[in-house]
Amino acid sequence: MKRLMLTSVAAIGLVAGGIGAAAADDGEAIYKGGTAPSCASCHDRGIAGAPKINEPDDWADRPTDADELVESTLSGKGAMPRYEGRADPDELMAAIRYMLSTLE
Ligand code: HEC
Repeated sequence: MKRLMLTSVAAIGLVAGGIGAAAADDGEAIYKGGTAPSCASCHDRGIAGAPKINEPDDWADRPTDADELVESTLSGKGAMPRYEGRADPDELMAAIRYMLSTLE
């Protein structure tokens, strides 16, 4: 019985680790389709005044700190819907890191 429990704990640890790693590596996939509505539906082409990816000028007056950007995405800003409850903060962080990487 003890051995069975240890095996289960190890398996849960592996699954949780796997999800975290996938979220961090998959910022582009999350950006494109990991949330509803997808970030790409507005940020690819600047719909509703959204700052575009690949367009550093659009981001010039915005915070550069990823934690701060996750906060404003969770609570919603202007025409952007509130993502709290729709997406995991880790997923938002991965998507935002991807967005910021297109501005370099
Ligand atoms: C319905 C269109 C729409 C969708 C979908 C959308 N955004 Fe936005 N986003 C906006 C708009 C519009 C702004 C500018 C808000 C403002 O400054 O008034 C914005 C601003 C931002 C900012 C800058 C926030 C700041 O503090 O200046 C970030 C980061 C961001 N979006 C990330 C995301 C991410 C990540 C997703 C997907 C999880 C997403 N957005 C989905 C429209 C959208």
